[in-house]
Amino acid sequence: MTAVAVSIEEIRRGVADARSHGWSVGLVPTMGALHEGHASLIRVARQETGCVVVSLFVNPAQFGPAEDFSRYPRPFDNDLELCRRERVDLLFAPPVEEVYPPGYHTHVEVEGLQDVLCGASRPGHFRGVCTVVQKLFSMVGPDLAYFGQKDAQQVVILQQMVRDLNVPIRLRVCPTVREPDGLALSSRNRYLSAQERWNATTLIEALRAAKVAIEAGQRDGASVQQLMADHIRATPLAVLDYAAVVDARTLQSAQHIEGKVLLALAVRFGGARLIDNLVLDVSADHVVESSLQESLVVGR
Ligand code: PAJ
Repeated sequence: MTAVAVSIEEIRRGVADARSHGWSVGLVPTMGALHEGHASLIRVARQETGCVVVSLFVNPAQFGPAEDFSRYPRPFDNDLELCRRERVDLLFAPPVEEVYPPGYHTHVEVEGLQDVLCGASRPGHFRGVCTVVQKLFSMVGPDLAYFGQKDAQQVVILQQMVRDLNVPIRLRVCPTVREPDGLALSSRNRYLSAQERWNATTLIEALRAAKVAIEAGQRDGASVQQLMADHIRATPLAVLDYAAVVDARTLQSAQHIEGKVLLALAVRFGGARLIDNLVLDVSADHVVESSLQESLVVGR
């Protein structure tokens, strides 16, 4: 049975109750409009922890003034239903004033990493993400927190934040869940028209073409970047925001492709902005798909 908490006091009481049974606590932060991608994080949390908390909060601080905050989907009943199906213990759905009361002034920024890739076209976005995630960590107090690799830059930034601020929480990174045709699941896919949806597979096609080129021996970052950009630009209705080949830890351009690299794309279709990525581990003689999961216990 999923209990709904809307105040900090209620969620703390629920978590304290779980701890009194000796259970560990896993947090899955979301903005709702839950789909199989979110469900996959919940299932990993369910396996690894005794008490699973899902937070549902459409965070105004991470949306730019011209972005989709007001039209972001909020199908609360469906979300609660999915949480019940997945045996979530606590659904934390605070109103905006509970998280940002009048007179709120404090923000968390991860310098450098926040300014590249999505941060370049969404100024202030990652400041909003870091602030709300740190606040959720403080409000809920989990042992583990679960994030999707679909939002790769978000993961890299939060890992840095947890290390830098000695946050005593372990981050788990879960693989991207895709539609059968390869499109990464996203709450924003519902903004796509039928034609845009058909063409949206261009992201995963471009990433897979880049992987094939690297497997064939290409090690020049700029060439791989160009190959992905050309693929997107040849797709009707698609407008390229960025195509990047970067070091998976520093997010700096990888001129020579070696070690753990992130191939990342952001593409606009009308009012929808889609992102996708692949993480590869590359050496002179092998290329394997990899993950952003860090083996170290971070932040202790
Ligand atoms: P949201 O977009 O709702 O995503 C919540 C979590 O689900 C994120 O960790 C995201 O990476 C993961 N996720 C989304 N689509 C996925 C997919 N197709 N496969 C696997 N995981 C997927 O990301 C946010 O919310 C917010 O920025 C948040 C962290 C909640 C802070 O407000």
